[in-house]
Amino acid sequence: MVAAIRYGVVGTGMMGVEHLRNLMILPGAEIVAIADPVAASLDWARAALGDRAAGVRAFDDVASFATAADVDAIVIAAPNHTHRDVVARLLDRDVAILCEKPLATTIADARWMVDQARDRARPFWTAMEYRFMPPAAEFIAQVHAGKVGQLRMLSIREHRFPFLPKVGDWNRFARNTGGTMVEKCCHFFDLMRLIVRSEPVRVFCSGGRDVNHLDERYEGRAPDILDNSYTVVDFANGVRAMLDLCMFAEGAEHQEEMSATGDRARLDVLIPPGDLVFSPRVDWRGPKAVERWHVPVDEAAMAAGSHHGATFYQHQAFAAAIRGEGPVQVTAEDGLRAVAMGAAAELSAREHRVVAMAELGL
Ligand SMILES: NC(=O)c1ccc[n+]([C@@H]2O[C@H](COP(=O)([O-])OP(=O)(O)OC[C@H]3O[C@@H](n4cnc5c(N)ncnc54)[C@H](O)[C@@H]3O)[C@@H](O)[C@H]2O)c1
Repeated sequence: MVAAIRYGVVGTGMMGVEHLRNLMILPGAEIVAIADPVAASLDWARAALGDRAAGVRAFDDVASFATAADVDAIVIAAPNHTHRDVVARLLDRDVAILCEKPLATTIADARWMVDQARDRARPFWTAMEYRFMPPAAEFIAQVHAGKVGQLRMLSIREHRFPFLPKVGDWNRFARNTGGTMVEKCCHFFDLMRLIVRSEPVRVFCSGGRDVNHLDERYEGRAPDILDNSYTVVDFANGVRAMLDLCMFAEGAEHQEEMSATGDRARLDVLIPPGDLVFSPRVDWRGPKAVERWHVPVDEAAMAAGSHHGATFYQHQAFAAAIRGEGPVQVTAEDGLRAVAMGAAAELSAREHRVVAMAELGL
């Protein structure tokens, strides 16, 4: 019988509640504490916990949680601009930490996180759910196994709904999020590095705020969210990658599509429905030889969040790392590099120019 891991969750808004719901179905996980300064968010967490809420200590400030919560692992699901402060309060605690993406809103803060994570005895993990969607994980494994031959091009598309309302409207401004290319797209830049197995050299991003949130005002100020962009990234190993982001395309059949094209074939993943499509090169006059298959996802994991089951599978891997049975699959360094690519894209879009990663010290 494996000892239970006692978890605390900091920030119990949308994503914090998704973590709670997934921890509730994770074997060997015991939720013992939650923290959030907003009473309504603590109530959402209690509602999600149901009968289990009685055994969970609720804190309305992170400082008391940091000193009093008796936990082995802490999930940070507070707004992006608070991640550094929350981690700062936990430095003296011998606990494993899973910090939601983006690791921070600036490269400087993300570097600080990397420095703090370096000498910790327990795992520090940057949450990057998209890696753990089963169809995406299968796509990545197939590309790494050589299914497309030598990878030359990687294209990622996310066509989705606009940013949702958040507690305190924190996601309306880049000063709180890092900007759309950091906040949202760090996922895709992380996937690029993971799939391409190289580091980015230069980034060009053309983006704008053209459709969403145009009439919104917060204390008289208009949101500064980019709602569409194209980003091209050159990697050191010669692979080209691009990201096509549109946040006014919620009617699209697929929210995410990734295509990896090598010298022998192309492989696509479509989410939903969770299918992979393999298209080997053929004589251009002959028939196509396309194969399509479906990657199943555990039903309970699918139902416990809005990330195609990813939050559950990521928690499985995080728990294995806590028990010393698996590696930290997404390090603080990975988190920093995804933030840096997002920051490069934001700068590129703002100044209408190519940004070399070396300019940013990476
Ligand atoms: N991986 C993903 O796919 C994914 C999806 C959504 C959100 N996220 C990340 O999760 C985090 C939370 O986002 P959300 O969508 O749940 O936002 P949210 O606004 O729904 O929830 C954030 C919660 O944090 C609380 N909070 C504010 N300041 C805090 C502080 N200093 N300490 C503790 N709690 C504080 C708020 O009261 C709120 O309840 C963000 O970093 C976001 O980028 C990740």
